[in-house]
Amino acid sequence: MNRKVLLYLSAAIFVMVFTACSAEKTKTTVTSPDGNIEVAFNLSGSGQPSYMVMHKKETVIDTSYMSFDFKNIPSLKDGFELISSDMKTIESSWDMQWGEQTTVKNHYNELTLYLQETGELKRKLNICFRIYDDGLGFRYEIPAMEGVSEVLITDENTEFNLTGDHKVWWIPGDWDIYEHLYTETNFSEIDAISKRNHPNLSASYIPENAVNTPVTMKSADGLYLSFHEADLTNYAGMTLKVDNDNLKMESELVGSEILGGKAKVNLPFSTPWRTIQIEERAGDLIESKLTLNLNEPNAIGDVSYFTPMKYVGIWWEMHIGKSTWDLEGTQDMNTYIEGQRGSSRHGANTENAKKYIDFAAANGIKGLLVEGWNTGWDQWINTEDREGVFDFMTPYSDYNFEEVMAYAKEKGVEVIMHHETSAAPRTYEKQMEVAYNFMKENGMNSVKTGYVGKIIPKGEYHHGQWMVNHYQKVLDDAAAKKIAINAHEPIKATGKRRTYPNAIAREGLRGQEFNAWATDGGNPPDHLSTVAFTRMLSGPIDFTPGVFNIKFDEYKKSNQVNTTLAHQLALYVVIYSPIQMVCDLPEHYMVNGEIHPAFKFITDVGVDWEASKVLDGEIADHVMIARKEKGSGNWFVGGITDENSRKQTVNFNFLDEGTTYAATIYKDADDAHYDTNPEAYEIQAMEVTNTSNVEIELAPGGGFAISLIKK
Ligand code: NOJ
Ligand code: CA
Repeated sequence: MNRKVLLYLSAAIFVMVFTACSAEKTKTTVTSPDGNIEVAFNLSGSGQPSYMVMHKKETVIDTSYMSFDFKNIPSLKDGFELISSDMKTIESSWDMQWGEQTTVKNHYNELTLYLQETGELKRKLNICFRIYDDGLGFRYEIPAMEGVSEVLITDENTEFNLTGDHKVWWIPGDWDIYEHLYTETNFSEIDAISKRNHPNLSASYIPENAVNTPVTMKSADGLYLSFHEADLTNYAGMTLKVDNDNLKMESELVGSEILGGKAKVNLPFSTPWRTIQIEERAGDLIESKLTLNLNEPNAIGDVSYFTPMKYVGIWWEMHIGKSTWDLEGTQDMNTYIEGQRGSSRHGANTENAKKYIDFAAANGIKGLLVEGWNTGWDQWINTEDREGVFDFMTPYSDYNFEEVMAYAKEKGVEVIMHHETSAAPRTYEKQMEVAYNFMKENGMNSVKTGYVGKIIPKGEYHHGQWMVNHYQKVLDDAAAKKIAINAHEPIKATGKRRTYPNAIAREGLRGQEFNAWATDGGNPPDHLSTVAFTRMLSGPIDFTPGVFNIKFDEYKKSNQVNTTLAHQLALYVVIYSPIQMVCDLPEHYMVNGEIHPAFKFITDVGVDWEASKVLDGEIADHVMIARKEKGSGNWFVGGITDENSRKQTVNFNFLDEGTTYAATIYKDADDAHYDTNPEAYEIQAMEVTNTSNVEIELAPGGGFAISLIKK
């Protein structure tokens, strides 16, 4: 080697080392721990931040820009330079007090980019990416600005630039309610505006072509993507505006006419995480704990005052029109039955509550919910001014609160409180302190809340910042009193149950109740095979399964549940919630004076789990989940199908090795069908081990449930 070559080589080595150092300082790409997902951050020629996402080297999110608009101050948009970046790896785990599994692994690589405007304002913006093996989250930190302590965000413009015309399961970006059916279309065909004016929604506002999250997609190559947010705190909920032509989504925050913008925040401020789950198997979407991991650890300590449980309720009977919430029977939701208006059919009376308590105590059900127990129901609907209507302390005259509580205690049943606010949160906030004290004095540890109707004051929406803060206040105040919350008409779940494990469940979807009164035919048979891969990705669902009298013709000839009875049983495993309603009327669970043989599954099935496994599934077609009960080690399996019949092989290889289980299979009878023969079932008993298999036939709209009790 001559001198010249040597000199040249050493110079090259020097340059290489130097670039490596400088790349270290301002690193702009980051991968998942397994290397499959890569995120690349970039600044455009004009200094606007953007990101791209690759999965196994294929682009799944193309260059997507990010910016913020404010009232009265310039946008944070371009003119940025990258000052520095930070990389770290976190590998840890944490335990759930109740949940789908005991321990959650939390392993990610984090890249934070520190940006600053080069212009005269010199404002800063930090963007933090966390990449997991199953997806990613990113959030913005807006540091303090000189002379500005509070900003009114008028728009957050986070783009999600798709790389194909994916198949999408979506609900509209409604600012008030998530209770829409999922529609399956290609991305280019999403038309949220067509979902306006649904007759059965108590409040609905769909300002533009946007979708709500979680929104789940499947690419032509079979890759699954789901978009959502984590840790929604002091901010507005995010819908995603749809650009059909350019296959692009952009964050559109829920607004407030009172605020004149989207969110008013003090600086410094961190936004919620924008999340993208990326999976090769549909079932992995459900098993992912990404949203939870992106939330802060438990902030309220031990919540053992709440016991995961099944509960019955004075509830379905109002929805199907057997009884009413109010005393006089004049103010029913959609349950008005010809000839019965005005007749007193009040469901929440002392005698009826005792009947439910007896049923619960005799059949191993721990909880009882009583709706319509308090005054206010005579004015709750059709009243413009609902402020001050509900009273959360005063029972109706035919409901002897003390007597019911004493009877429940004697029988070992826990009564769940009900607070329907009729979307008047200020009235609720005024009474919360006394109402929660009243609950605790009477030994009640959880409350189902409700927000039916348009929010008062006018101009606020269920999913806007003002309501996000109200729902948070409820969690905070309840936690201080050791009370757990199951919210209906809620803000969507964003994984906050990690930080506030008193947030036990919520509605936030088209629940069972629609089968009782919806004028559009009720929930179709594929509803829950879709929900499992969409709404359920955000958190526990109070869906209220367990209808045995599928057609309830005695009360409503024009409505029915569009599933078989076995499908209803499967939902106790398929749908995750630490509280599961056993929603039908006690008399509908009885056959010739005896408990229905299939009710045994409901008595046996767990509600708190050590492990959960999605054995099989395809969005909107079918899903099969196995869960291992905490404590007993028993397993339960639930499988459901859409309108198509299906053969499903259950491979028991997930069972503990060397253990024999007594398996009881509850399945559709040969001639079962959700419409023509929904209640036909069969029960089969056998012994199985982890080397066993069984093949099960699911009827159209059908399902099966298996209990596996250790021998
Ligand atoms: C709507 C809730 O979803 C339902 O469960 C409840 O019965 C009614 N509101 C009355 O509060
Ligand atoms: Ca509802």
